[in-house]
Amino acid sequence: MKILVTGGAGFIGSHTVIKLIESGHDVFIVDNLCNANEKVLGRIEQLTGVAPAFAKVDIRDREGLTAVCEKAAADGGFDACIHFAGLKAVGESVAKPWEYYENNIGGTLTLLDVLRKNGCKNIIFSSSATVYGDPEVIPITEECPKGHCTNPYGQTKSMLEEIMMDMQKADPEWNIVLLRYFNPIGAHPSGLIGEDPNGIPNNLMPYITQVAVGKLAELGVFGDDYDTPDGTGVRDYIHVEDLADGHVKALQAIEAGCGLAIYNLGTGTGYSVLDVVKAFEKANGVRIPYSIKPRRAGDIAVCYSDPAKAEAELGWKAQFGIEDMCRDAWNWQSKNPDGYGE
Ligand code: NAD
Ligand code: UD1
Repeated sequence: MKILVTGGAGFIGSHTVIKLIESGHDVFIVDNLCNANEKVLGRIEQLTGVAPAFAKVDIRDREGLTAVCEKAAADGGFDACIHFAGLKAVGESVAKPWEYYENNIGGTLTLLDVLRKNGCKNIIFSSSATVYGDPEVIPITEECPKGHCTNPYGQTKSMLEEIMMDMQKADPEWNIVLLRYFNPIGAHPSGLIGEDPNGIPNNLMPYITQVAVGKLAELGVFGDDYDTPDGTGVRDYIHVEDLADGHVKALQAIEAGCGLAIYNLGTGTGYSVLDVVKAFEKANGVRIPYSIKPRRAGDIAVCYSDPAKAEAELGWKAQFGIEDMCRDAWNWQSKNPDGYGE
């Protein structure tokens, strides 16, 4: 298939682009590079032997997106879009709500309109387990009611899901797959591509790898008084390679004319913060000093998926375990202490 990948130069997008190319798909990336480095394109070429088509376009730029679609129309147009582009830092979204709503919601509305006007009504959207809020049931199935998102980032995911569901209801020609990711970590096993956060990382694994590489002194563990086996927060970490595979499988659902489909992408296993620290130390033989800090505002105790629906309907199941994720995250960080650099 010919696939438009928005945000394809980012962390999850770049790993997915490699899987798409390896599966024989024809990829066109649009990314405004606000949170990505153009060097990733060279790394994708190095790994696949294919230089992905790329345009530095903002998804809010109607003319730019239309030009990309019109160019693709010369050989049949896009069969589907995989939509990763968006801002994703929870704390920043609290400080800059307008910027998050405008980029994520405004950008997606423009994208959806340009797609349908150019004959493409197939889309896979990067949603998040954050839409469940503090979940009513664990493990979380797709039937679990959506919860209250405590931050504008989460709100954009939840609202965009609603918008796309309404559009699909009104126009059943749309095939829309909402993928609710749990906690993506890890990196491509080559160590050539990986996660490259700006500034001090907010998320657990990049923080750990930066402690391991000596850029940060110690990990702060946010709370050890949760109602969990060791008192620290429990999450469903998923290898980004497995997540990338999930998108390739979701394309098959699109091809089969799925209408609206929603899937959790997680492993179904929860690990605490201290479990992850121990797994990292075991996998890599590197010690991670840490100290217990107060709880982080907005955090929940436990969040992990029931991934059975994706297995039953997409034939997708996570293959990698927590030590694989730790090994590959460290392989990337140790080979690229400064990420992609300047
Ligand atoms: P990322 O920041 O690495 O990738 C997002 C990409 O989108 C970046 O390359 C950025 O430059 C680009 N982008 C942002 N706004 C844009 C715009 N207006 N026009 C064009 N490009 C734009 O993030 P990621 O971790 O790869 O996440 C990809 C998607 O998955 C995001 O939508 C994110 O919200 C979602 N998601 C991520 C996680 C996670 O933990 N990483 C979890 C759940 C959902
Ligand atoms: C974060 C986002 C969430 C997003 C999800 C997907 C926040 C508040 N939430 O969730 O919206 O959908 O990523 O990846 O950012 N921790 C520490 N010390 C640290 C960092 C984290 O102890 O320095 C703990 C957290 O308290 C949590 C766990 O590690 O228990 C995972 O945290 P993180 O990686 O930030 O992910 P989430 O909070 O699950």
